[in-house]
Amino acid sequence: MIPIVNPTLLEWQAVIADFRQAWESGQVTTGTFTRRFEAAAEERLQVPHAVMVQSCTAGLMLVLRALELQGEIIMPAFTWTATAQAALWNGLTPVFADIRPSTYTLDPEKVAAAVTPQTAAVMPVNVFGCPPDYEAFEAIGKQYGLPVIYDSAQGLGSQYRLTDGTWQFSGNFGTAEIFSMSPTKVITAMEGGLITTSDATLAQKLRQMRDYGKTPDGEDIAWLGLSARVPEINAIVAYYNFGHMDELVQRRQELMQHYRQGLTGLRGVTFQDIPADRRTSGNYFTLFLDAAQARHSRDQVYEHLKDQGIQAKKYFYPALHQQKVYQTFGVSARTPLPVTEQAAAAGLALPLYSHLEEKLIFKVLNIAKGFLL
Ligand SMILES: Cc1ncc(COP(=O)(O)O)c(C=O)c1O
Repeated sequence: MIPIVNPTLLEWQAVIADFRQAWESGQVTTGTFTRRFEAAAEERLQVPHAVMVQSCTAGLMLVLRALELQGEIIMPAFTWTATAQAALWNGLTPVFADIRPSTYTLDPEKVAAAVTPQTAAVMPVNVFGCPPDYEAFEAIGKQYGLPVIYDSAQGLGSQYRLTDGTWQFSGNFGTAEIFSMSPTKVITAMEGGLITTSDATLAQKLRQMRDYGKTPDGEDIAWLGLSARVPEINAIVAYYNFGHMDELVQRRQELMQHYRQGLTGLRGVTFQDIPADRRTSGNYFTLFLDAAQARHSRDQVYEHLKDQGIQAKKYFYPALHQQKVYQTFGVSARTPLPVTEQAAAAGLALPLYSHLEEKLIFKVLNIAKGFLL
């Protein structure tokens, strides 16, 4: 079976040497190695504060709680369930706005139209590695006086070009951005999450909240927190993989280019558009199959690939407003979400990881093309 994802884990010897040190010191959680990785992230991404936590989901939950938000939060339904689950865990109501048909990221115009007096925040999402339109969302945040919190789970290593022409890494926008370093991500910690922010007070609060909300002296509990500290082994793995960020991203972009070239021109097959002002981290390569045009439907291609030993993923599917959990919580789409529904019915992610051999890409391509030509 060619898996859809496979974590690229680098520098085993260095990881083990550092872990031995942590092991022997007895300091095995949220210690010097966690801080070393955070400092490396601050330096490379050029962000003032980076706070590592146990997962992106924990990071999302902590940021929403730290900001003491109440009411509603506008987000896409074309995302992973964690985006909205973090809201529900905080007693916030997710309000779904539609996405753009080209990038599949949240549509700023739809967000502006969805703002009400109940809106507490906006949460755009990085989709498959492509950042949302940061500048448009920063403008919306300013216009309506709302914090913008980015679910950048899939976006570590992605970049955005500001209108003044300078490129910035994801991590530099909004009140905070939250990344995932789970095994399915470009840069993995095996498990982990990373919060970036330029707000020193927020960063300090989050450092306390990942440890139950303890006061700095540990004598009292100041905030409602979580047990979301970071095992040092995860911070060590994160550090060494993060050191290879550029080549990991570059390699994925090359592999994605093979997929694009090989599949271009097939009837009913389109790809995510990465605008000239954005660089994807390359987390997923997803094709979109128009059921009316393509020779086979998305689900048929999925099954065919599976029969041939290739694991694909219907992604993101189902859209959040179509998942049982949100119906249970009485959360439904307030406005039609036609682009979201079409994308959720059409998207199919193909195997992609940084150490995927080219010959396997060509194998996937041959099988997919043979079925779709
Ligand atoms: C868009 C999005 N948000 C949140 C998450 C949750 O990340 P984690 O597994 O680190 O909690 C993911 C994970 O795949 C994701 O894709």
